[in-house]
Amino acid sequence: MTDQTPPVADFQLVTRPGEDQRTEYGIPLAVLAELTHRCPLQCPYCSNPLELEAASKELTTAEWFKIMDELAEIGVLQIHFSGGEPSVRKDLVDLVRHATKVGLYSNLITSAVMLTRARMQELADAGLCHVQISVQGAEAALADRVGGFKNGHVKKLEAARWTREVGLPLTINAVMHRQNLHQLPQIIDMAVALDADRLEVANVQYYGWALKNRDALIPSFAQVEETNRIVAEAQDRLAGVLDIDYVVPDYYAQRPKQCMGGWGRQFFNISPAGKVLPCHAAESITGMEFDSVRGNKSIRWIWDNSEAFNKYRGTGWMPEPCKSCEFKEIDFGGCRCQAFALTGSAGNTDPACVKSDLHAAIFQQAATEAAEEQDRFTYRNFSGGALEAEEL
Ligand code: FES
Repeated sequence: MTDQTPPVADFQLVTRPGEDQRTEYGIPLAVLAELTHRCPLQCPYCSNPLELEAASKELTTAEWFKIMDELAEIGVLQIHFSGGEPSVRKDLVDLVRHATKVGLYSNLITSAVMLTRARMQELADAGLCHVQISVQGAEAALADRVGGFKNGHVKKLEAARWTREVGLPLTINAVMHRQNLHQLPQIIDMAVALDADRLEVANVQYYGWALKNRDALIPSFAQVEETNRIVAEAQDRLAGVLDIDYVVPDYYAQRPKQCMGGWGRQFFNISPAGKVLPCHAAESITGMEFDSVRGNKSIRWIWDNSEAFNKYRGTGWMPEPCKSCEFKEIDFGGCRCQAFALTGSAGNTDPACVKSDLHAAIFQQAATEAAEEQDRFTYRNFSGGALEAEEL
């Protein structure tokens, strides 16, 4: 850990929604470690930035070990290994073993297409605590088309079974959009059949690659209403069998989501090259500087003091209508990345909020784009994207 005495941060006390006790902005319980931006899949809604970090810039094994030592020392309890595809890293088992050694709970967020039964066992033996596998649909033709990777769906199902065979808990992440929402009932059945503990039904959030592909992904309002019904029915029917988390699409919402639990409040992310980010999409906000673990500041100092974390922390930065809104300490003004993407300033009210002047316009824009049914994807890659081939 960097030898320095960080100034004591003067954070206000906040009450989390639904909790009586008051908590401080301490250090987050969990950190997202993006090991790489390399990935065999090319999902058109990838949460990575449009400008992907090259393999040559990635943090080394030794650097990640040092980061994990520091995370454990400052009180972080969980590390979520993500990417890109984290299993692209040859040192993944070593990283998991080190997390176990320093007492961090480890979760692997993976597309799973590169895993083998033997590697899954190695990961379990190294102390991995949980696996999250993303799915793109309920059947191979659509799922493989969305991910831009042949035979990916079959491999995912295989890896999901191995996860349970080696005794690890499993979450299925289903990213939903206009072109796969009709398969949601089968995805729910699939999660039950795979013996998953949890299913995340996450509607696409539109920044970065997803914003670039919004016209091909945005659902219609009728689809959203039907999805709400399907999820509510399944949550009821499968209580005690499968936990279902649901992320609604912002553009059709009334209230914005409490993104990341509030900026700089419950979460941080470490990018493949070591930038410490308030959220995984923060780099989509241009003009903002982010400190790096490769600099001379400790992670603790960055969390407490860096300009990027403090800029939208709490409620002091808020303009109207957020400033005088009764929900300001519940949703913290919504998503800064979405505010930037849709208004050009991350300091504006998230237009997902019905109190924003832009709310009606984005609702209408979503409905119009959905009705146009432009279905071709721009796949995510290192050269700025590749337009899906036209059907013959
Ligand atoms: Fe960055 Fe919402 S995704 S604040």
